[in-house]
Amino acid sequence: MAFLELNGVGKGYGSGSKRVEVLRDIDLHVEEGEFVAVLGFSGTGKTTLISLIAGLIEPDAGEILLRGKKVDGPGPGRGVVFQNYSLLPWLTARQNIGLAVDHLFSDWDADKRAAHIDQHLKMVNLAAAGSKLPKELSGGMRQRVSVARTLAMNPDILLLDEPLGALDALTRGSLQGEIARIWAQDKKTVVLITNDPDEAIFLADRIFPLTPAVDGEGATLGPEFGVENLPRPRDKKRLNENADYKHLRNRITKYFMDVRHEQRKNIRHEEVLLPDLRPVVWETA
Ligand SMILES: Nc1ncnc2c1ncn2[C@@H]1O[C@H](COP(=O)(O)OP(=O)(O)OP(=O)(O)O)[C@@H](O)[C@H]1O
Ligand SMILES: [Mg+2]
Repeated sequence: MAFLELNGVGKGYGSGSKRVEVLRDIDLHVEEGEFVAVLGFSGTGKTTLISLIAGLIEPDAGEILLRGKKVDGPGPGRGVVFQNYSLLPWLTARQNIGLAVDHLFSDWDADKRAAHIDQHLKMVNLAAAGSKLPKELSGGMRQRVSVARTLAMNPDILLLDEPLGALDALTRGSLQGEIARIWAQDKKTVVLITNDPDEAIFLADRIFPLTPAVDGEGATLGPEFGVENLPRPRDKKRLNENADYKHLRNRITKYFMDVRHEQRKNIRHEEVLLPDLRPVVWETA
């Protein structure tokens, strides 16, 4: 039994003719302490997948097990960092973290809670920015507060939904380094959603492509890409010159190019049908 198991998971939205299938036949087993990345195009169902694991929504098919127990609602054991920071704008960085800590560790005395918050502000290099409001922080700093808040909840598993997607390349790179460092220190189980193959290779033990549907039946996970050949700690500059890294990156890129090709073939198929209709349009024009 793996730490986290998704067996035959499917999910769609809406009903009747408005029904949209988003995910189908998702099988994913993640071991304790493992860092897994799911890599996918925009709109393929990545947030849906994270929300399912978080217990925020329920699957229509299959089951999700954490430590062998069925996930049937959200819980503090699963810490989520969303795409959009989701900080409360009227609270300072420290208060945003404090809200979660006070709620979860209400049996601790005030000093212990304050020390816990300080430790997590420091962990993301924001010790000096604790009294700032979100609007006074840069996007990268806000995202770090969001990561610190989630880590301060001491979850068993971290669910990161494109946590760095909105950041510029430089800030993104430095935060990737921080996530790698924090993971090495804490060895939490992580599921990272990303659209960036380099980010996935830099951080993960295994990478799963979320392959979009060509037939309206929902996206599913493609074959696993193992990153075991790249020892940790990984150095970004050195990775670029590493033959295993280049080879893996090429394999992943080729996989997605082939997927795109299949999709285009499908679209062309529809275009072949269209000329039958066009003459009518030309004649009335
Ligand atoms: N609550 C909802 N009701 C109806 N449709 C939804 C709902 N949430 C998502 N969808 C649809 O499901 C599909 C997948 O959405 P999702 O947010 O999971 O994708 P994503 O891969 O996270 O996208 P992005 O890369 O833009 O973040 C989209 O077509 C979206 O419109
Ligand atoms: Mg999303």
